[in-house]
Amino acid sequence: MSQGRSNGKFILTNYFNKKLHYLSPIMISTVPQNLLLQNRHRGVQYSQLNTEKFMCGIVGAVAQRDVAEILIEGLRRLEYRGYDSAGLAVINDQHQLNRLRSLGKVQVLSDALDAQPITGGTGIAHTRWATHGEPSENNAHPHISGEHIAVVHNGIIENHESLHNTLVQRGYIFTSKTDSEVIAHLVHWELAQGDSLLEAFQRTIKQLEGAYGTVVLDRRDPERLIAARSGSPLVIGLGIGENFFASDQLALLHVTRRFLFLEEGDIAEITRRNIYIHDVEGMLVERNVQESTVKHDAADKGPYRHYMQKEIFEQPKAIISTLEGRINANSVLIESLGHGAKKIFQKAEHIQIIACGTSYNAGMVARYWFESTAGVSCDVEIASEFRYRTFVTRSNSLLITLSQSGETADTLAALRLAKKRGFMATMTVCNAAGSSLVRESDIAIMTRAGTEISVASTKAFTTQLTVLLIMVTALGKQKGTVSAKKEAEIIRALHLLPAHIEQALMFDKRIEVLAEGFADKQHALFLGRGEFYPIAIEASLKLKEISYIHAEAYAAGELKHGPLALIDANMPVIVIAPNNELLEKLKSNIEEVRARGGQLYVFADESAGFQASQGMTIITMPHVEEICAPIFYIISMQLLSYHVALIKGTDVDQPRNLAKAVTVE
Ligand code: M6R
Repeated sequence: MSQGRSNGKFILTNYFNKKLHYLSPIMISTVPQNLLLQNRHRGVQYSQLNTEKFMCGIVGAVAQRDVAEILIEGLRRLEYRGYDSAGLAVINDQHQLNRLRSLGKVQVLSDALDAQPITGGTGIAHTRWATHGEPSENNAHPHISGEHIAVVHNGIIENHESLHNTLVQRGYIFTSKTDSEVIAHLVHWELAQGDSLLEAFQRTIKQLEGAYGTVVLDRRDPERLIAARSGSPLVIGLGIGENFFASDQLALLHVTRRFLFLEEGDIAEITRRNIYIHDVEGMLVERNVQESTVKHDAADKGPYRHYMQKEIFEQPKAIISTLEGRINANSVLIESLGHGAKKIFQKAEHIQIIACGTSYNAGMVARYWFESTAGVSCDVEIASEFRYRTFVTRSNSLLITLSQSGETADTLAALRLAKKRGFMATMTVCNAAGSSLVRESDIAIMTRAGTEISVASTKAFTTQLTVLLIMVTALGKQKGTVSAKKEAEIIRALHLLPAHIEQALMFDKRIEVLAEGFADKQHALFLGRGEFYPIAIEASLKLKEISYIHAEAYAAGELKHGPLALIDANMPVIVIAPNNELLEKLKSNIEEVRARGGQLYVFADESAGFQASQGMTIITMPHVEEICAPIFYIISMQLLSYHVALIKGTDVDQPRNLAKAVTVE
């Protein structure tokens, strides 16, 4: 059976029409009855099997209505997690299992589904991001075993090689290079040994080492999905006469707002009417139903061209939400930081911040604040370094993790390690309620930025900084290093911050014009001093991430120790120049660049006294309170990278090779 479009964009083919299978970017298949038998006779290169790492999205549905469109919409909402291939498998009314997979974004899969609809009330779907092994249709999920089992998986199966070898000896033929395929064959094997799908799945899960969120279906038991969570998030969405699985509640907001969050080690079974959850011991347990607080429009771009643009412009509103209930007119409300926060702050003698990427940059800014304002020593470390080095735990050290997603594998591993290594307490500053970091930390302080979809983090960063400044003030108050006067000054600055960010956003058009000067450049250098040095680092991360221009950041005083050698007319140098005690030093650094013919773009406080001249463009910014200035200045840097990326025509929201939530190390 085969049917194709001549343009080759999509081909309907039988699962075993190998020629079409490899030529087509998309495949729709009806799984034949004798797959296992046929597999035994087909040669497959087992040596191609690679360890794969995924940061993927999962959706599953059991309903009376057709679920394919629900699954596709769910994948669309998860695409921010991974986007190199996608697929779905649905059981139709005749209990046939139809699978559709495509290389590329969910839209390709959606187009194929439009062209050749597949229908049915039970299905699973997946969007994939791979760091090893090529993105390909063959490697796209769902993976199928025998005539009836289909599986989607997020995470990594560390012992997949030995499982693979055992399965090969049992006669299974692998059709992908993924580690995930072992789950499908294991379930198939265990089911053949007898007992129900649940029991077969439970025995399968016991054999897996690594991290997984995984969902399985059996076309012979067509109204049931079973899932397991270990190290990779999974939620159940509750409908009326229908139920769902997803790796993120966001994927299901178009069908429900009521969720059960699975815990580590849970195995859950859903049918249209029932939900059973077994904990790590295999005991039936109940989990609380939670109403989602995520706004309905989180996945809508509204009037904006990109999520990143929308999220940049949402920052005043996001910060208002972050501040709500945490400060009053003149003071910080320490109780709002969580039960026990006051005692922890009283006792804390040291702060250890752990994070990755943009969250790490927020930690670097906060280090200046913790030491200069609260007078408490603070170290900041990248999670992937911290977790693998021998470190000394300081006495009464408070560990603070920073994370937008709350699921970053390295940060989570660092938290788990720290808990065994004598830290006084653990706190997380996080944007995702119900995430692993939130659940596993002693205290979680939510940033309340609202869902951030663009891979490039913007509002998560500024709301993290806002929370951190509140924490610094509360800590300093407990330590007696922040006087009532100082506290009132900081609180006033925080109250003014949303309006200042509105002012910064008004520079959008000006920055759009400036961006023209960057689009043909290969490199860019960002300079700052003090807490504006990590702001320069964050600015350079934004630019490289979405425009693919190589960008670096230096503490301006460090220029003469090497980077000055890079300066010429082709190297734009962006300087962040607030009017603070380091301004005169920074001006000298600017002169060093000017004298060597560098192209300077100086974002300067209106009172800093800069004059535009040959090779030096001045962007005059309104004066803002010094303590909040890092949060203010990053806005123009975000706008700059956004506009450069627009001119370059890159994929702003889903830059190449990246994923939103890095749930594997
Ligand atoms: O979810 P997290 O804040 O833990 O993520 C950490 C980094 O992966 C993340 O900030 C990444 O650097 C962003 N893409 C930067 O825009």
